[in-house]
Amino acid sequence: MVKITLSILTIVLFITTILMFNIPVVSSDSGEQSQNADENPLTEKCYKCHDKETEYKEWKVSGHAKTLATLRKAELAQDSCLRCHSSSIPSDVPLWGKDWRSRATLKTAQNNVGCSSCHRHGSKRKHYLTRSVKKLCVTCHQMDCGCAGGGIIHQSQAEMFAGKGGNGVKRMPSPHIKEMPMRCVACHMEKETSVEKVVARGGHTFVASMESCQRCHLGEDDISIRVSALVSEVNSLLQQVERMLEDTSAQKDSQVYKDAKLNYDMVKGDSGYGFHNFAYAKALLKYSLSLREELLGNKSQKADSSAK
Ligand code: HEC
Ligand code: HEC
Ligand code: HEC
Ligand code: HEC
Ligand code: HEC
Ligand code: HEC
Repeated sequence: MVKITLSILTIVLFITTILMFNIPVVSSDSGEQSQNADENPLTEKCYKCHDKETEYKEWKVSGHAKTLATLRKAELAQDSCLRCHSSSIPSDVPLWGKDWRSRATLKTAQNNVGCSSCHRHGSKRKHYLTRSVKKLCVTCHQMDCGCAGGGIIHQSQAEMFAGKGGNGVKRMPSPHIKEMPMRCVACHMEKETSVEKVVARGGHTFVASMESCQRCHLGEDDISIRVSALVSEVNSLLQQVERMLEDTSAQKDSQVYKDAKLNYDMVKGDSGYGFHNFAYAKALLKYSLSLREELLGNKSQKADSSAK
């Protein structure tokens, strides 16, 4: 028994060492390569013709340009995660095609979420987009797609925006869905200046621009005041649920724990403060809190029985 445990330990240690050894090698590699645009495979072959464009310059500073490094540093990284953390070069392999996954591995993958994650020469769509704008971002910015191992919720913008997927709350789409045929692109890619200018927010930086709110919320004194009130409300609910989940002695695999935790993870996965749908975020967290008695009641029962 002890021997088995020891050999398991050795294997775990061995794997950990390999991982620890690999991470700095890989990430410093990619850091150096991105210094030299001409040889930078992380930007695919598109840079050869498109590197002077504002889109390229903006993309280079965006989160999308470092997705591979992020992934390689992650504890649970595996090949299937590449589906959302890397685009599909060699470029002869069709994007989202059925065979690319078998070719790229954590070791061999070279690209971040690059131009070809969203564009492809030959596409019939405007700007050669690979998918319609409605589907483009949410293909990756969704809860567990079932393709990277079960139960992973680290991004839930798609579900939060659509107001679905949580426990105990009816469907509740963001009021912005109806107003924004361009969906995510409307807030995250709107340019504050002309297309030719490299910008700090919007465009291919994908950073949401608060300027864009004024288009519709013009009458309001300041939309950012309304937003920060809502953010702190959501944050305080998040903290309450977090404390409840810490205090409970309910089994982690009990249904009631899982129900409360899912809603919490969803709001967290939205980037922490429920921005994409405040009303839904609040409803989700309040539902979790409504399970308080079951979650904490368990604890007092257990305490009772151990006292006996
Ligand atoms: C191929 C998958 C994929 C697609 C398509 C995609 N994203 Fe992302 N996005 C990611 C990943 C992975 C990250 C995580 C970046 C990191 O921290 O490494 C990310 C990060 C982001 C971030 C945070 C940026 C930061 O600086 O940390 C924003 C905002 C974002 N994406 C918006 C969008 C929008 C808007 C679209 C659609 C136009 C989109 N994404 C399409 C995978 C994707
Ligand atoms: C369905 C698409 C998808 C899959 C599959 C996926 N990711 Fe992500 N990942 C994303 C997106 C989108 C973001 C950016 C989230 C944000 O900025 O809010 C992200 C961000 C991250 C981050 C940055 C920190 C965080 O939690 O936001 C890490 C680490 C990460 N992913 C690890 C992984 C690992 C490990 C796997 C495989 C087990 C994986 N991802 C599979 C889409 C995905
Ligand atoms: C995460 C998805 C995504 C990535 C990655 C991405 N783009 Fe785009 N790109 C878009 C979307 C969406 C539009 C359309 C925006 C609109 O209509 O407002 C667009 C528009 C463009 C346009 C047309 C701009 C205009 O307004 O005329 C060019 C050129 C372009 N992209 C080039 C690139 C290049 C080069 C890269 C790689 C450095 C890249 N894109 C990476 C999503 C992406
Ligand atoms: C050999 C040079 C070359 C390479 C390599 C190249 N492109 Fe292009 N691209 C062009 C030219 C020229 C245009 C303008 C004419 C056109 O629309 O086809 C263009 C147009 C585009 C547009 C349309 C911009 C708009 O205003 O709508 C997008 C998007 C784009 N390319 C993406 C890519 C992506 C993604 C890659 C890499 C997978 C790539 N390109 C590789 C030369 C190139
Ligand atoms: C009404 C405008 C709006 C819409 C629509 C919208 N977002 Fe956001 N999003 C924001 C704002 C504002 C933030 C917070 C930005 C910040 O902190 O800089 C944000 C934050 C994010 C983040 C976290 C960024 C970070 O730096 O960690 C991601 C990822 C993201 N949005 C993706 C999406 C996706 C995917 C969609 C479509 C389903 C979407 N957003 C729709 C306004 C919007
Ligand atoms: C295309 C028009 C449009 C744009 C652009 C827009 N909104 Fe809205 N927004 C609306 C409408 C319509 C409603 C629903 C009526 C209301 O509550 O004012 C709404 C509701 C809201 C709400 C309350 C609903 C909720 O989610 O709980 C907030 C907060 C909000 N918007 C913030 C923003 C921010 C921040 C931006 C910019 C990043 C923005 N909006 C951009 C049209 C827009």
